[in-house]
Amino acid sequence: MILGEYIMSIIKNNFEKMNITKIKNSKNNKKLTVITAYDALFAKLFEEIADMILVGDSLNMSFAGRPDTLSATLEQMIYHTNAVCNGAKNAFVIMDMPFGTYINKDEALKNCIEVYKQTNASAVKIEGGEDKADIIKHLTSNAVAVMGHIGLMPQYVRSEGGYKVRGKTKEDEEQLIRDAIAVEKAGAFSIVVEGVKSDVAKKITQAVNIPIIGIGAGVDTDGQVLVWSDMLGFFEEFKPKFVRHYLDGAKLVKEAVNQYRNDVQDKSFPSKEEEY
Ligand code: KIV
Repeated sequence: MILGEYIMSIIKNNFEKMNITKIKNSKNNKKLTVITAYDALFAKLFEEIADMILVGDSLNMSFAGRPDTLSATLEQMIYHTNAVCNGAKNAFVIMDMPFGTYINKDEALKNCIEVYKQTNASAVKIEGGEDKADIIKHLTSNAVAVMGHIGLMPQYVRSEGGYKVRGKTKEDEEQLIRDAIAVEKAGAFSIVVEGVKSDVAKKITQAVNIPIIGIGAGVDTDGQVLVWSDMLGFFEEFKPKFVRHYLDGAKLVKEAVNQYRNDVQDKSFPSKEEEY
């Protein structure tokens, strides 16, 4: 594509490559759209539409077929982050730090440095609130850009005994607000708030000066994040209440592959035009 066409395509989509400053400045100005991606193919499709691409450890469920995210390893996440960065060179890519890779300050910094050295990820995401503030502070003061993740935290599924919506009691609401403030103070540039009652998510959003990206947290956050295979209808195991299907991906793929099989069987594929 020649340069003029490229610039026009960017203008048409209103695409603006994000950086930490632009993301922070979006607070109260622009709703941020975040989507997950795990490979180069889909990352390229999302690149100039989404503001940020998250290489979520959710890939362990939707792609590796595991029951939760806990078995994702640093090597796997680095592999998928490289694929995403290769496919979407203009995207602001965030890598989820997998379970067990940030158990203390030194481990966290060592592993995040490895991520920065081996990938072009712009930032990492860490689950935890007040309890992880000292770790986040250590990372941000050593030049690692951190996105926080509070509320329902999938890496806590076994210790919590399931996925539980947060913010149902006054105590929990206050804890979540303390978590957000602690993560902001520790230097995070943004926070994912997952599975939180919408009125509480609104209060969290108002309590901090960095963008709150909601998932299952209502409309009043500064942006939204969805797992791509959920929102495009490819993940068939279950559909959480907060997921909207923008495509019936699984149905469309099955229909197409069925059509392919029929064409193979009745010899209408390949045609004369499709042979050498
Ligand atoms: O792993 C993931 O995809 C996530 C999103 C659900 C925010 O953490």
